[in-house]
Amino acid sequence: MVIPQHVAIILDGNGRWAKSKGMPRNYGHARGAKNLEVICEDAYNMGIKYLTVYLFSTENWKRSRDEVDGLMRLFRRYTKTCMKTARDNNMKVRVLGDPSAFDPDLQESLKELVESSKDNTGLNFQIALNYGSRDEIVRAVRRISTDCMEGRIRPEEITESSFASYLDTAEVPDPDLLIRTSGEQRLSNYLMWQLAYTEFYFTEVPWPAFTKNDLWKAIEKFNGRSRLYGGNREG
Ligand code: IPE
Ligand code: IPE
Ligand code: MG
Repeated sequence: MVIPQHVAIILDGNGRWAKSKGMPRNYGHARGAKNLEVICEDAYNMGIKYLTVYLFSTENWKRSRDEVDGLMRLFRRYTKTCMKTARDNNMKVRVLGDPSAFDPDLQESLKELVESSKDNTGLNFQIALNYGSRDEIVRAVRRISTDCMEGRIRPEEITESSFASYLDTAEVPDPDLLIRTSGEQRLSNYLMWQLAYTEFYFTEVPWPAFTKNDLWKAIEKFNGRSRLYGGNREG
């Protein structure tokens, strides 16, 4: 079995899962965060080198005040847990997205999480927080324009690879496999540049119920596909 080097996940369905149990949406988020800890470890044990998960989109601010507040509390707790897991499991954590919209204490903990794990050599774990692809691309264009104006880069030096180095995923290879849980089949502004050649796998299973076995199913399906990157099947 070929194990994809980089798996990206849109962990969706926390709210619907909680509702189906007669529980509030934030209960679903809490259980979803717990499950992420488990899947993270499973992914690493399977041989996955990079795992990138979508935790909060630039659009998710539009949710109710109550839900957003609950999510921020959860991210505070999760950041602390993640710091410990990173230390115990030699995991290197990167944050994708623009954390400047978060409260200063959360921004500080995220910085600490990244800084304290930067030399770790185990799983590369990317958490997308206040992340949107369009926002990421616009931020990259702004920085590249500044570098151009200040003479650090010439327009003819802007190539696909130099541009990619301005994205939040600089240093991270493109995902081989994208998984979206809970039935929706859309990108919701996730990694649009990086997913150009990624295999997509959609499952009805909601995130809090997603198991190692479901991850295996996605990897099996991935193995059944021939990835040609623009080549032809006969070639
Ligand atoms: C995904 O679950 C987690 C976040 C977007 C924060 P949802 O909250 O989107 O759950 P559903 O899709 O409404 O069930
Ligand atoms: C995408 O899920 C964002 C995250 C998983 C963090 P959403 O549930 O917010 O996406 P839409 O609104 O259904 O497209
Ligand atoms: Mg959703």
